[in-house]
Amino acid sequence: MKRRLPLMLTVNGEEVELFVEPHWTLLEVLRDELDLTGTKEGCGEGVCGACTVLVDGKPVRACLTLALEVSGREVITVEGLAGAEGLDPLQEAFVEHGAVQCGFCTPGMLMAAKALLLEEPAPDEERIRRAISGNICRCTGYTKIVEAIASISGPAKGNPAGGKS
Ligand code: FES
Ligand code: FES
Repeated sequence: MKRRLPLMLTVNGEEVELFVEPHWTLLEVLRDELDLTGTKEGCGEGVCGACTVLVDGKPVRACLTLALEVSGREVITVEGLAGAEGLDPLQEAFVEHGAVQCGFCTPGMLMAAKALLLEEPAPDEERIRRAISGNICRCTGYTKIVEAIASISGPAKGNPAGGKS
């Protein structure tokens, strides 16, 4: 067996401690070791955005990130979006606007959008499109996704970035 190294990080608010091989990606650890399969593997090489998660609030491609690189940091996956009160407003907006079809891109898209709203509570359409430009969707044509994100942009519209995380 190859030598494994200790890794400690926070995932969706919980401290996690495990032993990983140095070449394992964050995506492998999330899906295969922690059973957090909401984060998808599409291309596996940094192109599609399906594996996007938040690391310390910033969007990161989990397929390109070594697990050991996130040692001591805070990772949020799509499983961590919903709270005790139910779905995150962003998730609700995706449902209400029909922004989900096959759903494969949705976890990565949600996390990219979440990162944007955390940084910028009231982005305009151009900014929204730029923020999700690295996330490929084969189904929706993007318009409904942009509308969903825009619908909760701004403090007056319940943007979670202005309140809960
Ligand atoms: S699976 Fe990571 S960018 Fe496509
Ligand atoms: S909903 Fe199918 S890829 Fe986006």
